[in-house]
Amino acid sequence: MMMIMTSNEFRDGLAGVPAAKSRVSHVDGEKGILEYRGIRIEELAEKSSFIETAYLLIWGKLPTQEELEDFETEIRYHRRIKYHIRDMMKCFPGTGHPMDALQTSAAALGLFYSRRALDNPNYIRAAVVRLLAKIPTMVAAFHMIRKGNDPIQPNDDLNYAANFLYMLTERRPDPLAAQIFDVCLTLHAEHTMNASTFSARVTASTLTDPYAVIASAVGTLAGPLHGGANEEVLNMLEEIGSVENVRPYVERCLANKQKIMGFGHRVYKVKDPRATILQDLAEQLFAKMGHDEYYDVAVELENVVEEYIGREKGIYPNVDFYSGLLYRKLGIPADLFTPIFAIARVAGWLAHWKEQLTVNKIYRPTQIYVGDHNLAYIPMAERVVDRDPGTVSA
Ligand code: SDX
Repeated sequence: MMMIMTSNEFRDGLAGVPAAKSRVSHVDGEKGILEYRGIRIEELAEKSSFIETAYLLIWGKLPTQEELEDFETEIRYHRRIKYHIRDMMKCFPGTGHPMDALQTSAAALGLFYSRRALDNPNYIRAAVVRLLAKIPTMVAAFHMIRKGNDPIQPNDDLNYAANFLYMLTERRPDPLAAQIFDVCLTLHAEHTMNASTFSARVTASTLTDPYAVIASAVGTLAGPLHGGANEEVLNMLEEIGSVENVRPYVERCLANKQKIMGFGHRVYKVKDPRATILQDLAEQLFAKMGHDEYYDVAVELENVVEEYIGREKGIYPNVDFYSGLLYRKLGIPADLFTPIFAIARVAGWLAHWKEQLTVNKIYRPTQIYVGDHNLAYIPMAERVVDRDPGTVSA
């Protein structure tokens, strides 16, 4: 049921507050249903490809064969990045997080494609194609550069998912691995009004350029409560280490009021349908490429969390819980998990950018001021020392 707010009503985290009217996707959190443009995620995971799904999200309809081929060809053509971007990345500290590198590089695209024409469909199309095409190349390029290697050029013979895996290793990926990775991208492509999409829409509403829209969304996705949780899940499974350690770990987390990564969701009160599909994909991948001991830890964790808080509070695995185990089996380093989420989510962010432009009103909410009024200006000599201002080493 949609809630209408009175002007002074306030909800932490805008929980339950509609921030836009949208046709892009829909979640039923009670039933565990996710639809992109009205089509169930299970059906897209089985029958579609990431690029076809991106087209569906952004243009609101499934493409014809010719439309899909044109879109794929345009994206293939625009995969390369300018040497300026590569050189800029060479100045980034190799120890920096790839999400920070991606946010900076995405914003830098605005320097190269600066002519803004938001009412021109050709400009919109070019921005969509460039961002979908170049974001994976930028993620892979930073990964190679930080290892001291030259970036691997995109391979025009490979599709979107296979090409990304290729750019990490210079080896053609196993077909099943590439197919599963493509489904992972489809599953992560869009998810209604989450934090990064809200951030993208707020930025879009100022009529700035699409590269700034995507850069702000990437920065928002990076946090551990949002897309950054997939990396944290793997760290957590490694810390737990064995099936026997799961129960004491959960008890410790609950006693310390510490969140268990990869669990819980603002909207879902049942298991996230994407987690169910990802778990199934992980099992397929392990059957072909060998079992992963941490999968047993993950399954036990799911059972124990359900027993302790799941049923009572509706805390079940979310999209970030099983994805990391899958990417690990594909040989992908843990700090690329969230950039991979971003590669996929660019499709959803672009769909919302386009939608925002058609109905635009700049976002400008109000606040409830809870600070002081009419205080006197205190002379320097009378001010007291702040007990915990923090320190910065020289
Ligand atoms: C994504 O929104 C989207 O659509 C996002 C996303 C997408 O596709 O874009 O689905 C992707 O961001 C997935 C979420 C990844 N984050 C994590 O896995 C981090 C761990 N999970 C949480 O911190 C939490 O569940 C959130 C951030 C996902 C949701 O937070 P809410 O809605 O603000 O809920 P809350 O933190 O206020 O928790 C409500 C209750 C609390 O208990 P009480 O104080 O009411 O007794 O549930 C408990 C919480 O303590 N709880 C958890 C928990 N998550 C919620 N307890 C233990 N472990 C958890 N993970």
